[in-house]
Amino acid sequence: MIRFFAGLIGLFFSGMLLLALFDTVYLGITEPAEETAEHKFYEYPKDVSFAHDGPFGTYDRAQLQRGLKVYEAVCAACHSLNLVAFRNFEDLGYSEEQVKAIASNWLPTGGEVPSINPDTGEPSTRPALPTDTIPSPYANDVAARAANNNALPPDLSLITKARKNGTAYVYSLLSGYTDQEGYKNDAGEELLKEFPDAAAGAGLYFNPYFKNLNIAMAPPLSEGVVTFDDGSPATVDAMSKDVAAFLAWTAEPKMEVRKKTGWAALVFLLIFTILAYMSYRTIWANQKH
Ligand code: HEC
Repeated sequence: MIRFFAGLIGLFFSGMLLLALFDTVYLGITEPAEETAEHKFYEYPKDVSFAHDGPFGTYDRAQLQRGLKVYEAVCAACHSLNLVAFRNFEDLGYSEEQVKAIASNWLPTGGEVPSINPDTGEPSTRPALPTDTIPSPYANDVAARAANNNALPPDLSLITKARKNGTAYVYSLLSGYTDQEGYKNDAGEELLKEFPDAAAGAGLYFNPYFKNLNIAMAPPLSEGVVTFDDGSPATVDAMSKDVAAFLAWTAEPKMEVRKKTGWAALVFLLIFTILAYMSYRTIWANQKH
């Protein structure tokens, strides 16, 4: 008897679950979820390739040097690189003397880094040394927000690791500012009319590659803001690519060593496997299987 009722109850619950499933599927088909602004405007990072991609890729030193130049001339006015010291730039192919010169002429801070006056204890600055990390131009986060419409320019040392498909993302973000009014729906009407909430508010700039479509960073690059020593073009696209490659390096300066070590380990394991197999054959050669 108890079995019978237990069975009935079980049947009832399974029936309800089936009904709920049917209801969900039915509603999904008859009343599909409304399209959001993100659906319409958002774009995934562009398809772009770099010299350091792939298992054998190495950094293009000339490109990194150009990226550093863009970084110093433009990005460093708002962003810091807390995990990168001036002396690390020797990796990019600069000599010790050149690194000293870069530190003492660091554009955004006039070659100075924050310090404390040893006599008075007051905050002050001192000339930058190769051992210093790339400073933020702001005294602290509060000052940084005050100057940027309450948005904090993040430290960029690890940004290409902190975002999915980071290097392509930074490249796309920098070169991806467009006119939001240019977006049309299938019927040829302006998309903004359909999604008025997606319009950039005061102090925000439309960028389809940014996760919420409107970013507090004004388009930082414009054609010709720097002149490259090697005569490379200083278009927004080229500079975005160079500075993205530079930020890939800041996030993983030892990538080349990592790849080389990986390959060496694989070759070692291969030789070791062959040796192990050969000794197995030798040891068991005279045994009946
Ligand atoms: C005038 C100041 C300013 C300059 C110059 C500037 N940025 Fe920014 N940047 C910001 C601010 C502010 C934010 C935060 C935006 C937000 O959260 O909406 C930001 C955010 C970013 C982000 C993070 C986006 C994310 O996914 O969170 C990246 C990457 C970035 N900037 C790269 C750069 C690069 C590279 C340059 C140089 C070409 C540069 N920025 C120049 C102010 C600046």
